Amino acid sequence: MQKAQAKRNRCWSIPRIFFFLWVGGADLFIRIFALNSSSDYELRRSNRRRATTMSMASAHGKLAYPQFSGLRRTSACVSNSQPLFLRRAGAAASRRSFGGIFAMAGTGKFFVGGNWKCNGTKDSISKLVADLNSATLENDVDVVVAPPFIYIDQVKRSLVDRIEISAQNSWIGKGGAFTGEISAEQLIDIGCKWVIHGHSERRHIIGEDDQFIGKKAAYALSQNLKVIACIGEKLDEREAGKTFDVCFQQLKGFADNVSSWTNIVIAYEPVWAIGTGKVATPEQAQEVHAAVRDWLKKNVSAEVASETRIIYGGSVNGSNCADLAKKEDIDGFLVGGASLKGPEFAVIVNSATEKKVAA
Ligand code: PGA
Repeated sequence: MQKAQAKRNRCWSIPRIFFFLWVGGADLFIRIFALNSSSDYELRRSNRRRATTMSMASAHGKLAYPQFSGLRRTSACVSNSQPLFLRRAGAAASRRSFGGIFAMAGTGKFFVGGNWKCNGTKDSISKLVADLNSATLENDVDVVVAPPFIYIDQVKRSLVDRIEISAQNSWIGKGGAFTGEISAEQLIDIGCKWVIHGHSERRHIIGEDDQFIGKKAAYALSQNLKVIACIGEKLDEREAGKTFDVCFQQLKGFADNVSSWTNIVIAYEPVWAIGTGKVATPEQAQEVHAAVRDWLKKNVSAEVASETRIIYGGSVNGSNCADLAKKEDIDGFLVGGASLKGPEFAVIVNSATEKKVAA
């Protein structure tokens, strides 16, 4: 009897062991699953929190820029608490009024320069000047043309005063025994107000380096010439992600040598866009312009960053200028090929109206 009972107990204990093992395993499984889904939930919650914070940030005027691929820009925040035209109006109110309100990050006047390079004859230049003289140009724009040296006098004597004249180069110091050079003093003497320095054709064809260019700019400024200071990367430099490095290095060449930025306009001209018909997109140009302004803020001063005009150059024409002009940090243009056609140049000058959002 007792034996039979013991045998029955043994028979039951085996399924009991399996039963407890099964229950224990299920419990363990449920715990692990619960832990996983709760950490999923935490992750989802923290993502949502981050998304909410970002949308709140943009609602409160902080727009996080996306990562800039290849341009070494990690992040930047731009205060956006007021509409552009109000920000512009506030900035302008403390300086000058131009009879309109402009959507510009800087506080300067729109600027359009025509770089005629090594083009023209007496006849073609007479025609170009006649076209410019009869063009209707927006008042609130600084307009400058840069003829070849030998035609400056002809242009000065025939062009309306409303358009100022720039040289395309000037010597590093006072004139003297420097064959083939033209001094800043001579340019002032002949009626020039501006000079271009750092143009990519002089950097890369003639071989001028950053410090030489900076010194030439400084000397021109010391003689009361205003300077169009050009910077810009080559295609391989852009493709290697060095756009900002190159532009900042070239800016440093100017910053190391000049004592004031008041009479400087910076021209960002990507070399791959010059004379190629491949204009930078408005976004590409804006991105570098904003970075240049940021560099000025960090390396010169907030005031210089806000007051210095940063213009774009490289295959600008009558069809693409309007979209470029709309960008906040694009304060005008330096135009090559299209500046040789008076009516088209006038269209580019008048694209300044794209900045006007209220009169
Ligand atoms: P582009 O030249 O307009 O013909 O491209 C611009 C410049 O070199 O300043």
